[in-house]
Amino acid sequence: MALRNVREMGDDILRKKSKPVKQMTERIQTMIDDMYETMYETQGVGLAAPQIGVLRRVVVMDCGEGPITLINPVVSNPQGEQTGDEGCLSIPGKVAKVTRPMTVECDALDENMEPIHIEAEGLLARCICHECDHLDGILYPDVADGPLMDVAPMDEDEYEEYEEE
Ligand code: NI
Repeated sequence: MALRNVREMGDDILRKKSKPVKQMTERIQTMIDDMYETMYETQGVGLAAPQIGVLRRVVVMDCGEGPITLINPVVSNPQGEQTGDEGCLSIPGKVAKVTRPMTVECDALDENMEPIHIEAEGLLARCICHECDHLDGILYPDVADGPLMDVAPMDEDEYEEYEEE
């Protein structure tokens, strides 16, 4: 496995539409492995292939309940809404308020190209919407409720409390 360079906002590739994966290949499997390594290293909860410069409809996520790979994902049945801070590995040091559905369903293929169906709620629903947007060249500032804000740096006392938790 290898870390991949994460493209940042301003890079044209983040604005392009990704193509479906027709069959699993060694190259795509390696890309998925590298995407997980890169996501975990940078402490992200999700990463889409265009963020590492590959225009394929592949997403990896881990919202705290284990890894989920989505190939050619289709989001449906959005219900309710949630508003909260959202960030992106392609927009380091920034967050903005984004309103997303509270629940969504998602049909995709897994790494064996077998169909999977996910009923997602809360953070996972937010993450699926955010990552699938990347596959269509959409970044969260496009759909945010307000401006980008700097992530507040933690002062030392707060950091110590955080360490103790
Ligand atoms: Ni993102």
